[in-house]
Amino acid sequence: MQTKVSFADSGLREYCTKYLKRMRPHVSSVVVVYDSAVPEYLLGQATAGVINSGCNMKLIKASRGEKNKTIENAVQLATKLLKAKVDRNSLVLAVGGGVTSDVTGFAASMTLRGVRWACLPTTLLSMVDASIGGKTGVNALGAKNMIGAFHFPEFVHTDFRWLKSLPEREFRSGLGELQKTALLAGGKLWRLCLEANAIQLRKSTPTLHELVQIAAKYKAKVVSSDPKETKTRQILNFGHTFGHPLESASNGKLSHGEAVSFGIRCAINHSVELQLCSAKLAADNLKLSRSMGLDTATKMKVPTAPELRRLLGHDKKSKDGKLTLILIEKAGRPLVCEGYSVNDVAKIIIANQ
Ligand SMILES: NC(=O)c1ccc[n+]([C@@H]2O[C@H](COP(=O)([O-])OP(=O)(O)OC[C@H]3O[C@@H](n4cnc5c(N)ncnc54)[C@H](O)[C@@H]3O)[C@@H](O)[C@H]2O)c1
Ligand SMILES: [Zn+2]
Repeated sequence: MQTKVSFADSGLREYCTKYLKRMRPHVSSVVVVYDSAVPEYLLGQATAGVINSGCNMKLIKASRGEKNKTIENAVQLATKLLKAKVDRNSLVLAVGGGVTSDVTGFAASMTLRGVRWACLPTTLLSMVDASIGGKTGVNALGAKNMIGAFHFPEFVHTDFRWLKSLPEREFRSGLGELQKTALLAGGKLWRLCLEANAIQLRKSTPTLHELVQIAAKYKAKVVSSDPKETKTRQILNFGHTFGHPLESASNGKLSHGEAVSFGIRCAINHSVELQLCSAKLAADNLKLSRSMGLDTATKMKVPTAPELRRLLGHDKKSKDGKLTLILIEKAGRPLVCEGYSVNDVAKIIIANQ
């Protein structure tokens, strides 16, 4: 499944019109599900673009924030989509960050056994990662993304202007996924990340735009090689098996990107311990985390060992109770390592706190 991914820093109205016109007559109505924190003038451009395409349009305000990533909210949204009379010729357009796209994509997957959807990502995290790849879903049992579906968006269009209003903490959270992708992809992306003064990236727009595009295209390529995560796509979980339990236990104190960045540190330190990678990679990574303002995870309280084991027990990727870790040999060369027990992983997290 190949999602069309595009980037611009102007012309949002024209893009929406052009793309939706291209989808006609198969798409004749659009329901825009939007995060109310996004800039009104850009939302206005997107909706004007929808109207100019000749499609009927309805608007639904999304419930904001990680705490709203619940099955109840997804079902409520699916019901609202039905009340908005979505049918086989409808497109649901998610306008927001990863929470909005995860919940909206999932609601679209459930409605009428699947209506089309597309995404205008408005956070850095969503531009480089969450909007791409068709994983949609909600949290349950206090753990991340436990209920969900693969449902691929028709298109993902990034307009960099959304980022202007993004709070600093949310920007940093996006840098966490960028750090992950840079380590997985290696090459130019890793080099550019090391060279950039990461937290200053907002001010250095051309570099930021280049980084986002390389990262998003890398993710799209990995996903297209293994859409349903039977093998190669697993590498995208780098840092997540370690990070997710901390994110869940923090009750919002730790952002997704902060948790992932902490998880990356665990994965690299463990790789050094196993002599899979050099201590230099760990030092470079630590320097990068600091320049991204992402060493905050070390300041948070790690859950107790039993709580960690409970949360790790909910890892979706476990097979016969064993966890798969993504370790690393060097930037650009991740390694899939199976057969870890929940206890092993809890010990690594505790050792890195
Ligand atoms: N499906 C996937 O493949 C995938 C991948 C990575 C992360 N995720 C998920 O994504 C979620 C995190 O995404 P996120 O960081 O985008 O969170 P988010 O959607 O909650 O957005 C973060 C905050 O920024 C606000 N916001 C959004 N756009 C804004 C803008 N342009 N200006 C001002 N404020 C804005 C939101 O209201 C929210 O308060 C997590 O739940 C994570 O699990 C999913
Ligand atoms: Zn992630």
